[in-house]
Amino acid sequence: MTKENILDALKSVTYPGFTKDIVSFGFVKDININGNSIDLLIDITSSADEVKAQIRDEATKELKKLGFNTINLEIKAPKPPKQMSNSVSGKNIAPHVKSFVMISSGKGGVGKSTTSVNLAVAMAMQGKKVGLLDADIYGPNIPRMMGVADQKPEIQGNKVLPLKAYGVEIMSMGSLMEEGQSLIWRGSMIMKAIEQFLRDILWSELDVLVIDMPPGTGDAQLTLAQSVPVTAGITVTTPQEVSLDDSRRSLDMFKKLHIPTAGIIENMSGFICPECSAESDIFGMGTTEPVAKEYDTNVIARIPIEPAIRVGGDSGMPIVYHKPDSETAKRYQKAGSELIAFIDKVIEEGGADNQAIQPTTPPGVSACSM
Ligand SMILES: Nc1ncnc2c1ncn2[C@@H]1O[C@H](COP(=O)(O)OP(=O)(O)OP(=O)(O)O)[C@@H](O)[C@H]1O
Ligand SMILES: [Mg+2]
Repeated sequence: MTKENILDALKSVTYPGFTKDIVSFGFVKDININGNSIDLLIDITSSADEVKAQIRDEATKELKKLGFNTINLEIKAPKPPKQMSNSVSGKNIAPHVKSFVMISSGKGGVGKSTTSVNLAVAMAMQGKKVGLLDADIYGPNIPRMMGVADQKPEIQGNKVLPLKAYGVEIMSMGSLMEEGQSLIWRGSMIMKAIEQFLRDILWSELDVLVIDMPPGTGDAQLTLAQSVPVTAGITVTTPQEVSLDDSRRSLDMFKKLHIPTAGIIENMSGFICPECSAESDIFGMGTTEPVAKEYDTNVIARIPIEPAIRVGGDSGMPIVYHKPDSETAKRYQKAGSELIAFIDKVIEEGGADNQAIQPTTPPGVSACSM
């Protein structure tokens, strides 16, 4: 019995889904014959278990026909694409929400809430069912920025109905607390609050839930990643070097938590003159690009400093909705559509299985060291 005999026999094993066989594809690697026993390595390109099983069955059958009684068949296959690895625990406590986007930053005041609001409204304007969760329990700004600061949510049984504005469902600790009330949050309380936001709010069947995080990389971020499979992470930064150093921490966090990074938003990038519309550099535009490269991601928008953005935020009139023809609104719209495309891609690749708790695939990560 020679290796050629073996290869000839294995030529009748077609690669599932193709007309070509596993030998012609060059998948048969090592063959070691030892009397009636054979060791064989087949290295395939599909990660699907059915493909592996079919090849195993058929190859074993052929080898038995040749008279081997001990068959050690190793089938090497690539790891399944990111299956549930974007969630630390593999849990999903809000299974009716198709995707979750975490808006984060290394430091405060760079424009996370502004970005969250305008991206959420942009995606709603593009026909998506969008929710906006203000997970910044220390300084909830979303109600003001969405113009619902004076509204209180309706309670239904032991659940809470989200507020709604600009086609977006909204929930915030700011809407649940009395005005002027402040709480000192302990770690366990933060975990509970985030979990309740996901479990006890009556979100519709959302396409995407945009989550505005508190600054930094702490309990809130970790709890979120442990509660739902986060589909995409966006880091907001300003172009100064000091801010970029902080945003590296945020990008590192996405990596550690296995959150697919959708990109960076460079906020307060240049200044568009309200008089002549010329764009001038203030903090150093474009400095974010190398950081994005470092983390194998992209800058999905550069949003200028513009008084209308702040005014829109303060008055609950997001620029993307109220000044749709402005350059800034167009950039938010483009970032929104890129985000939608990114989410679709991640879901297609199996990166976020939001249907239910995955019963078979154990999570890739057991604990986070942050
Ligand atoms: N591109 C911009 N042009 C002008 N003003 C902006 C811009 N982006 C944000 N702002 C303003 O800067 C302030 C801080 O923005 P925002 O609240 O979105 O930041 P944040 O990162 O969410 O802050 P925090 O860390 O406190 O939650 C707000 O008053 C907002 O209106
Ligand atoms: Mg904020």
